[in-house]
Order: sequence, then C-alpha cells, then structure tokens
Amino acid sequence: MDYQNHQSPTAIMGSTDKGRSLRVECPPSAIRMLSDILPDEPLLMMGAGPVPIPAAVAHANSIVINHLGDAMVAVVEQVKSMANYVFQSDTARILGVAGPGSAAMEMAVANLLEPDDKCLCICNGYFSGRLAEMATRLGADVVRHTVAERESVAAEAVTRLLEKHNPKVLTIVQGETSSTVCNRQLSLICEAARKHGCLVIVDAVCTLSTMPLQMEDWGVDAVITGGQKGLSSIPGVSLVAFSERAWTKRRTRKADLSHWCLDAQLADRFWYGKSYHYTAPVSGVLALHEALRLVCQETLPVRFHRHKRSSSALQSGIEACGLKLYVDTEHRLDSVIGICLPDNIEAAELMKYTSDRYRVEISGSFGAPIVRIGQMGEQCRSHNVFRAFHALGSSLSALGAKVDVPTGMSTLERSLAELEQSLAVSAQLEPADDLDHQLPHTA
Ligand SMILES: Cc1ncc(COP(=O)(O)O)c(C=O)c1O
Repeated sequence: MDYQNHQSPTAIMGSTDKGRSLRVECPPSAIRMLSDILPDEPLLMMGAGPVPIPAAVAHANSIVINHLGDAMVAVVEQVKSMANYVFQSDTARILGVAGPGSAAMEMAVANLLEPDDKCLCICNGYFSGRLAEMATRLGADVVRHTVAERESVAAEAVTRLLEKHNPKVLTIVQGETSSTVCNRQLSLICEAARKHGCLVIVDAVCTLSTMPLQMEDWGVDAVITGGQKGLSSIPGVSLVAFSERAWTKRRTRKADLSHWCLDAQLADRFWYGKSYHYTAPVSGVLALHEALRLVCQETLPVRFHRHKRSSSALQSGIEACGLKLYVDTEHRLDSVIGICLPDNIEAAELMKYTSDRYRVEISGSFGAPIVRIGQMGEQCRSHNVFRAFHALGSSLSALGAKVDVPTGMSTLERSLAELEQSLAVSAQLEPADDLDHQLPHTA
C-alpha cells in the first residue's frame, strides 16, 4: 500500500488553521502489507522459544471479550484451577501477568523482597543472572553465587551459602535456557531454605509442564512461568504462583511497593476479586486457558514422559551423527538442548541456512559456542523432531562439517519409535499417576 498518492490532510483542511495542523503531516510512505513481510510458509519454531502453538490456542488468541464480564470470570476461575494442577499446589495463589516471563520474574522478586533484604541468587547463566539484576535494582542486598559453566548447583553448596548469608529470599532457575543446564536438586534446596526461614523463588519459564515441579511438596514459595515455552501458548501473558507463606509475606510487608502494574495485591483484585486492576489481556488469557486445558487433557505424567522421550531421542540422534552436546547428562536440561558447533561453523550462518533452506528455526546462544534446539510443548512431536534434526544435519553437511546424518537419523527413528510405543502404554496409566494433586474438573 502506498500512501504517497493520498492528498495531504493540510491540503484538504486548509493550512490557515495553524493550531490544527499536524506536526508529522503524512503517514509513512510505502508501508508493506503484513502478508508481504511474513513468509508464505511459516518457519517451524524449534529454537529456545517461542514454540509452535496448537490450533485451539491460536483460535482462542483471536477472540476479544469483556475483561470483567461473566464469561471472563468463568475463564479466570478455570485458568486458576488448571494452573493449580500444573504448578502442583492446591493452595498456591495464581496470578496472571500481562507481560513476558520477565514481568512475572519481576512480580515475584519485587513483591517478596524489601529494600536491604538479603537475597541469595544462584546464577547458572543469563536468566538466573537477570533475577539477580532485578533484585539488585530493587535495593536488596544481593549475594550472587555463580555456578561453574555447564554445571548445576548442588544442594550442599546452597546449604552452606544459606548458613553463611542467612538470606530472606533465594532465587534459582529450574532450567537455565541460556546454558542448557538443569538444577535438579530443588526439593533439597527448598528444604534447606525452609530451615533458614528463607523464601524460594523458582523460575520455571522453560520447564513448567515439561518435567516434574512439585511446588507444594517441595516447598517452593513462588514459581514463575511464561506462556511461550513449556505451555505452548503465546508470548506476553505469564503466570506467578505464590505459596501461602509467600502470600503472608506479601500482605505483611512494611515497605511500599514502587511497582504498580506488578503489585501482586492489586493483581489479586482481578484474579480473586473479580474487579478491575488494569484491562486484562483477554485474548492471551483465553489462549493460556486453552494451553492449560490441553496440558490437563494430556495429564502431567504423560506429558512429562512425552518430553523426556522426545528430548532423549533427539539427543541420541545428535550424538550418533558425531556432534557433541554442551552439557553432561547429569546437569543437562532436556527442555532446551545445547549442541556444540563443529570447527569452522558459525552459529549465525548455520541458523540462516536451516531457516532459508529448510524453513526450520533453531537458536544461537548467549556467548557459548553452541546452537540450541527446543523440546518444549509442541516441539516434542515426532514430525517436528525429525524435521529439526534433518535441517540441522543437512545444513551442517552443506556448510562443510563432518556429520553422519543417516546414522543419526536411524538412531533418532529407533528412539522415537520406542517413544510412540511407550506413549501408547502410558496413555493407559491412571491420569495424574504418581502426582499428588489430581486433575481439576475441566469438562
Ligand atoms: C528460563 C527463562 N527465564 C526467563 C525468561 C524470560 O522470559 P521472557 O523473554 O518472556 O521475558 C526466559 C526466556 O527465554 C527463560 O528461558
């Protein structure tokens, strides 16, 4: 569309009325239609997020309803009840946030920390470092514990730090997307923190619903998630779950909160009081509703199993073709896989090749010599995994790396066939098998 041929508004209205003339007189010229910008065939999003969304989520995201009407009230009730299942806590206070995962991080940190409070931040990379940065900006007395590259944190190390620093709040990430490390000892860490009267905030942005996180049983005080990763919803609407202990701390805090949008007690007006805080991102909440409904329908045990098998199959395929994974099994995150770049291959040229030639998007890194492939939500479907693996292997071959794509492909195929079989078996399991918190009634 070309606006240049349009008559200028001043020409139509006359230029004598100076007070009514526009400072920027004409709309920008040569604005392209969205259809000219977006590719005809969308890229398959196999990077570190956002991830592909199911049709039901996409459809819900196209609907706008009254943010305070009866329908929205019903949707919000169901979102909270499904979120209680997904967070595995029937007592957690669930608040939605109109904003990215980072806004949810900021809501948790800002509401639970007061100026000068000591805060222990376990840093395994970029996002756990962001929690420390947020705490510092809030005026907390921050102790950063930087974990060795490619390693998760041990509970004993955290226990020693708790004894030494006696913090009021501890922040930690379950899955560090940037370094592809997974902190697996959360339950022991929470147990130690509780003995010191310290609240624990866990960032589960990339892991929630992809691997176990037992908020209540482990004693986590705030869990953060975004929409666009494990949940396979859209970016921009996120969730925070506060434990009863954390909520008491919020209600009894002494210092005023400088944030208004992220004030959990104001947000509570909407999420539990059916009244106005700000205009809720209705379409995004509807999308989240559908994403959570699909998680509940699948059930957590089956979903965890699907993620574990899919990611393991992809990891075996990658190794079988001669590539190296960045992190050893013991510390490795399954939700986002870090793959070491072969000699003489640049991440940027590899990513460009996979997207231009194969219409598959993978991610670069935050400094490490790796590329990353996501295994979150819809990314863990066999057809997507095959396509991503083929794109990676064939692009590397084309760029001159030595990779045995056929061997990798057959290993992947064998492992995924086992996945299909084991999924058929686990689908016959009782719903919520080995989980304490049963499915909400979402019929
Ligand atoms: C572990 C983790 N935490 C937090 C974030 C921040 O989420 P957002 O980019 O939606 O603000 C991300 C995003 O990649 C993440 O992977």
